[in-house]
Amino acid sequence: MFDLHCTGVMRCTRAALPYLRRSQRALLLNVSSRLGSLKRNAGGYFGTGRFSYDYRIAKAAQNMLTLCLSAELAGSGVSVCALHPGRLKTETGADDADTSPGEAAERLLNFVRTATPEVNGRFFDLFDGEIPW
Ligand SMILES: NC(=O)c1ccc[n+]([C@@H]2O[C@H](COP(=O)([O-])OP(=O)(O)OC[C@H]3O[C@@H](n4cnc5c(N)ncnc54)[C@H](OP(=O)(O)O)[C@@H]3O)[C@@H](O)[C@H]2O)c1
Repeated sequence: MFDLHCTGVMRCTRAALPYLRRSQRALLLNVSSRLGSLKRNAGGYFGTGRFSYDYRIAKAAQNMLTLCLSAELAGSGVSVCALHPGRLKTETGADDADTSPGEAAERLLNFVRTATPEVNGRFFDLFDGEIPW
């Protein structure tokens, strides 16, 4: 999980960054999860035992990577943010999944098209505003 959701994101970022730096306005959007929010976990938002430890830990690590990158790249023209794509009915979706991947994909495209540099260092929910880290 850690290799996929955190180290994998690091590897992709390393590969893409030289190209992103050539853009006037680039966006590095890390697909995270509501389950990686430390604040929500600390607030008991997800109860106990329902969601796997390894996934939550991996997404929390990815979120920290997003924050590190957003600080490092601030002012460089490359914005970095995290995005929870919704509770999607996919193979790996949670038992409370209620949204089609197609609907999320449309919203994601719109998010990317309209994103401004102000998204840097922030964590968004495609369906419900902003998520606390
Ligand atoms: N579904 C949700 O409700 C939900 C909620 C929050 C966040 N997310 C995030 O959204 C992203 C996409 O999830 P999804 O629900 O669309 O899942 P999905 O439909 O199950 O697709 C997962 C994808 O990840 C690929 N994958 C799995 N292990 C891999 C590995 N070790 N190396 C490279 N690729 C690997 C799979 O490739 P193959 O098809 O080749 O196996 C597949 O294309 C994930 O980052 C997930 O954490 C999903």
